[in-house]
Amino acid sequence: KNGTILVVGGAGYIGSHMVRQLLAARYDVVILDNLSTGNRKLVPGGELVPGSLGDAEVLDRLFAGHDFDAVMHFAAFSQVGQSVNQPLVYYRNNLAETLTLLEAMVRHDVRRFIFSSTAAVYGEPTAIPITEDHPCLPTNPYGNTKLAVERLLADCDAAYGLKHTVLRYFNAAGADDAGDIGELHDPETHLIPIVLQAASGLIDHIRVFGTDYATTDGTCVRDYVHVNDLARAHLLALDALMQGADSATYNLGSSNGYSVNEVIAAARSVTGKEIPVVTGPRRPGDPAILVASSEKIKHALGWKPAYASLRTIIRTAWNWHLKQAH
Ligand code: UFG
Repeated sequence: KNGTILVVGGAGYIGSHMVRQLLAARYDVVILDNLSTGNRKLVPGGELVPGSLGDAEVLDRLFAGHDFDAVMHFAAFSQVGQSVNQPLVYYRNNLAETLTLLEAMVRHDVRRFIFSSTAAVYGEPTAIPITEDHPCLPTNPYGNTKLAVERLLADCDAAYGLKHTVLRYFNAAGADDAGDIGELHDPETHLIPIVLQAASGLIDHIRVFGTDYATTDGTCVRDYVHVNDLARAHLLALDALMQGADSATYNLGSSNGYSVNEVIAAARSVTGKEIPVVTGPRRPGDPAILVASSEKIKHALGWKPAYASLRTIIRTAWNWHLKQAH
């Protein structure tokens, strides 16, 4: 065995893909998940402990019972719009509960941490592609909570030697090729799964939020990165931390930007379905363009997305979608 990893939020969309890769890489995996947005049926193996990362007693029992080499944290709320309306819920879940987790780690002398952060920490970018040294000025509570944890981690490194990797995801998408785990949100707010719902007739149409952005076709441009590529980056970060690497912050994106219209066109081509579209007003808080530079992690850890094309990413999501429907 290579080690024992605590995956908080391992029953969620990205966490479940992580668990699968850790098991394949011969790590023992313990999953802590309160199943609020996660789902038992997404857990591909490992030991599932239902419970909250904000519960110090649960954490003390977990840490006393296992000799964890590292902790990965996927258990956050991630809807920008919801965070604007319910900031207290977001600060409680994403910041306060993470604080409780870090306290337990320090108490039990576990000092390797991999944190799921977001492009939302950058706010409205002033330069594209976005590099890690771009100013962090989030424009919503969700981004504020993630940036607050990033700063907390830097302080914990300085004070307690808590070594961490911060991974700033751009737009996570796709599903494992096996088709048995994938994106399962209720309600679904993300573009690709909604487009696929429209492709299969589960919903009448996809609504495009804004067609007057300063982009090539007027719709927002995003950087879609396959969920297995995200998980793979965590594995590389874990290896580096196990070998004594210092704390670091990396973007995770494909470095390619696609507009909402381009995503819909690619989905039509992959699915062979019509996909009815209606246009609507802008969704508050959406930056026009978010595209990552992922050069830093390529150089430091040798990470390279294996699912490089948008069509491939959509094909894996469609595969999952079809298997869900049956
Ligand atoms: N969109 C539509 N119609 C829809 C859904 C989305 O037009 O029904 C558009 C959005 O306006 C946006 C794009 O599709 O322009 C992508 O939207 P998503 O909701 O899929 O993703 P976001 O870019 O808004 O957000 C994602 C994560 C956030 C994270 C952000 C960082 O969900 O948690 O990426 O880049 F902060």
